[in-house]
Amino acid sequence: MQLFLDTTDTAVLKDLAATGLVDGVTTNPTLIAKSGRNMLEVIAEICEIVEGPVSAEVAAMDTAGMLAEGQKLAAVATNVVVKVPLTRAGLIATREFSAQGIQTNVTLCFSAAQALLAAKAGATYISPFIGRLDDQGAVGMDLINEIRAIYDNYDFDTEILAASIRTPKHVTEAALAGADCATIPPAVFEALFKHPLTEAGLQQFMADWSKTGQSIL
Ligand code: E4P
Repeated sequence: MQLFLDTTDTAVLKDLAATGLVDGVTTNPTLIAKSGRNMLEVIAEICEIVEGPVSAEVAAMDTAGMLAEGQKLAAVATNVVVKVPLTRAGLIATREFSAQGIQTNVTLCFSAAQALLAAKAGATYISPFIGRLDDQGAVGMDLINEIRAIYDNYDFDTEILAASIRTPKHVTEAALAGADCATIPPAVFEALFKHPLTEAGLQQFMADWSKTGQSIL
């Protein structure tokens, strides 16, 4: 499973990328606004930090505008993936990007029917938003299971990118459901390393080790 970081914070990204465990990055207009930086500059900097796919989202609502913006974003670096909203205009743009060899991440997916259309349009990635579905009282993970079954039934190549991840459990459940990737906020990524029993066990081992008076080196 590929693990992406959902962030525009380049300091945090550098720190986590140094673990070698970050396969890519996703951004969205909210995260760009949060960075307070010029979008093209921040995307270019992120693309220098990670070799893997970096999603940069268009802001236009019409197909022609999305195509123009997407081409500009794709020119920033070879690892840019153009993020397109799951609308009729967005899927027409996705089909055209696919024909042009530009990678796409179709975002704001909340139903299996939408995911089916995105795959037929040639999307590289589909982003089902788990946490936002949970917020509405639905079971977001059901959507990942449904999309996995549909894509496997028809051998679609579109990769399932579990998004709107809120907890480590979301990550493991998405992995169990067969999602190809998950995009994870930095705080949740940090939490993946941790377990209270790991910390307690290590504390005990170190206390006992110090009693031996030994040194390995
Ligand atoms: C994914 O590409 C989105 O940027 C992100 O996962 C949205 O998450 P949120 O619902 O926590 O805003």
